[in-house]
Amino acid sequence: MTILVTGARGRVARSVVHQLHGAGLPVRAASARPAELTVPAGVETAELALDRPETFEAALRGVRQVFLYPEPAGIHELIAAGEAAGVEHVVLLSSSSVLGPDAEHDPLASHSLRVERALAASSLACTFLRPDAFASNALGWAWFVGRAQPVQLAYPEAHIAPIHPEDIADVATAALTGKLAGPRAVTLTGAESLTFREQLAIVAEAVGREIPVQRITRAEAERQLGGFMPAPMAGSLLDLWQAAEQHGPATVADTTDTLLGRPARSFRQWAAENAAAFAGQH
Ligand SMILES: NC(=O)c1ccc[n+]([C@@H]2O[C@H](COP(=O)([O-])OP(=O)(O)OC[C@H]3O[C@@H](n4cnc5c(N)ncnc54)[C@H](OP(=O)(O)O)[C@@H]3O)[C@@H](O)[C@H]2O)c1
Repeated sequence: MTILVTGARGRVARSVVHQLHGAGLPVRAASARPAELTVPAGVETAELALDRPETFEAALRGVRQVFLYPEPAGIHELIAAGEAAGVEHVVLLSSSSVLGPDAEHDPLASHSLRVERALAASSLACTFLRPDAFASNALGWAWFVGRAQPVQLAYPEAHIAPIHPEDIADVATAALTGKLAGPRAVTLTGAESLTFREQLAIVAEAVGREIPVQRITRAEAERQLGGFMPAPMAGSLLDLWQAAEQHGPATVADTTDTLLGRPARSFRQWAAENAAAFAGQH
């Protein structure tokens, strides 16, 4: 029976599609923009936009398992369509932010929490993957690094344990293939706690030149982030980083070891694999 992978242009989903197909399993890659998908030969594609319920029925036909990105907009309709289609198990790419003290009212955390709650109240078996910050968030610095400009940060000493997206994909694939006995919800982090400044030093080694860091005010950071996301989200992210600067080293979870029997990939490995993205023009 088919495994549906939603958001298949996303970096975690792309890897899940490749791994399932490589294991010889029937996989359908679904995207809001299926024409832009690049999938291995033999992988079915489908249109599925998580906020457009009219796309659900066809994408879910014959599906028993779903890898899902969190989108509260259409989640109740998606659950109903999944139940009607005979879906048995959903693996959700949630977020460790749902464990925060005021997750319900936090614009970032509530996005994933609302989806978790809707799924938990349904008849579907669910696995909630709750990763901490992705190593790939560092790509947000590539524009500055590529132009040899200082990376501007409001909280350069914020401690994060960034996780390699491939580790999330590996755990998701294990969950979808029945190799993840046990917990319904798993917190995932990278192998070590690093400040943003330490992450940039590792990226600098990978690209072979120094990357200056410039501390900016919170108001300036709010203005910059506001160009990419709604103001409440930017505020929430800055609150998170401010707390991460005050609280010292981030907690490192041993879930990758426990679940996959091997250590998490390092940030250094991610930086080496992605050094070309920081090359730019200068
Ligand atoms: N970044 C973090 O630190 C962090 C931490 C915890 C949890 N998360 C969760 O992880 C998710 C992001 O995961 P990700 O890094 O795999 O996703 P991503 O690469 O950022 O893509 C997210 C989704 O956006 C859509 N998309 C729209 N335009 C795209 C484009 N040009 N290229 C690629 N995808 C595009 C894709 O869905 P379609 O193919 O359907 O359009 C894709 O699944 C979010 O839901 C977030 O809540 C992130």
